[in-house]
Amino acid sequence: MKRKLIGTLLSTAMVVSLVAGCSSDNASEQTNAPTDTGSETEAEAEGDAQNEDTASDASTGGAKIGISMPTQSLERWNRDGAYLDEQFRAAGFETVLTYSDDDSGKQVNDIQNMLADDVDLLVVAAIDGAALNTAMNEAAEANVPVIAYDRLILNDAVSYYVSFDNYTVGKLQGEFIIEQLDLANAGDKVYNMEITAGDPADNNAGYFYQGAIDTLKPYMDAGTLKVVSDQIDFDKVATEQWKTDVALERAQNVLSSFYADGTQLDVWLCSNDSTALGVAQAVTSDYAGSNNVLITGQDGDEANLKNIVDGVQTMTVYKNVSNESIVTIGLVKAILSGETIDDTLIPSFGIECAFDTESYETSAGNKCPSFLLVPNVITKDNLQDLVDTGLYTMGDDGYLSAAN
Ligand code: BGC
Repeated sequence: MKRKLIGTLLSTAMVVSLVAGCSSDNASEQTNAPTDTGSETEAEAEGDAQNEDTASDASTGGAKIGISMPTQSLERWNRDGAYLDEQFRAAGFETVLTYSDDDSGKQVNDIQNMLADDVDLLVVAAIDGAALNTAMNEAAEANVPVIAYDRLILNDAVSYYVSFDNYTVGKLQGEFIIEQLDLANAGDKVYNMEITAGDPADNNAGYFYQGAIDTLKPYMDAGTLKVVSDQIDFDKVATEQWKTDVALERAQNVLSSFYADGTQLDVWLCSNDSTALGVAQAVTSDYAGSNNVLITGQDGDEANLKNIVDGVQTMTVYKNVSNESIVTIGLVKAILSGETIDDTLIPSFGIECAFDTESYETSAGNKCPSFLLVPNVITKDNLQDLVDTGLYTMGDDGYLSAAN
């Protein structure tokens, strides 16, 4: 079988021809891999020229993939949905793409409709990792493999998980704070910090939070970093559905309750960009001090990259979701052609990632084999790295826009 190495760590969405070729001496280790994708009759349906490497691979070409995304109201999922849809189609698959308006009931319905529509495999980014049981159980009954995309689903119908290393995202935020404030050499100086975390229904949110808190804990314990509001526990700082306006409102309350007397705020640890946007707005309009507050984020959303250029947000942890899509498609091809799923597939993805069989569980003791990509820190000083991916362009004003 042909093997092709594509791209580099920061490779682009323009790469459309992927070959998941690899050792295939054993069948896939997961139990619900389809034996009857039915794709043979449709294999040449899309028959596009770009797909010459896969054209001979009748077991995957033409299969129908259901792509269920959580919402269009947060920038990244529009990018994920578009990349997945585009790249699957370019590789000769049929696709059904839905967005479920951050409504779990709607996501269950959307997935049920895809199953009724005879999809061969599901790629699902869950709104609520614990609320998809009805749809997941039906997928298992229909023998349709499920890939949990970016966010884990807590149901054993899930065969594989593709995401970034979520704990490392938080760790990078924590390390950034330590370096920027030079906490190791702070002596008796005390820095004041507040925390905003993500949606408790999203399985990722706890990993981001924990990665950052574990990293910062020695300084919090030593009193070098002080959370003035004393709002530290995840459930006190979580943000329903990652909403910017929810983060904004809580930040305004914290600022008026604890900082209106002139107390200096040094850092606001935010788990992602949608929450950082709200926090930055509150700091800009409601913070009495004149120092620059260090604000973290995650994703590289356009509005946040603008804030980074303007010095309103300090960093974001960038996750190249085009690469996440490339890994997903490589995995889908391997699943549908019955290949062994393990780290030997990684070279065929052409994307740096780890095969992890320990970190994630779909139920107590039931480990979910995962492919975890590598996140990167982006600041004002290395915005060019984003432009170099081919996924962003920089205007004359220095602001970045997502390239189409
Ligand atoms: C994703 C983040 C994103 C957040 C809100 C998480 O599950 O991993 O990249 O910022 O959801 O959309």
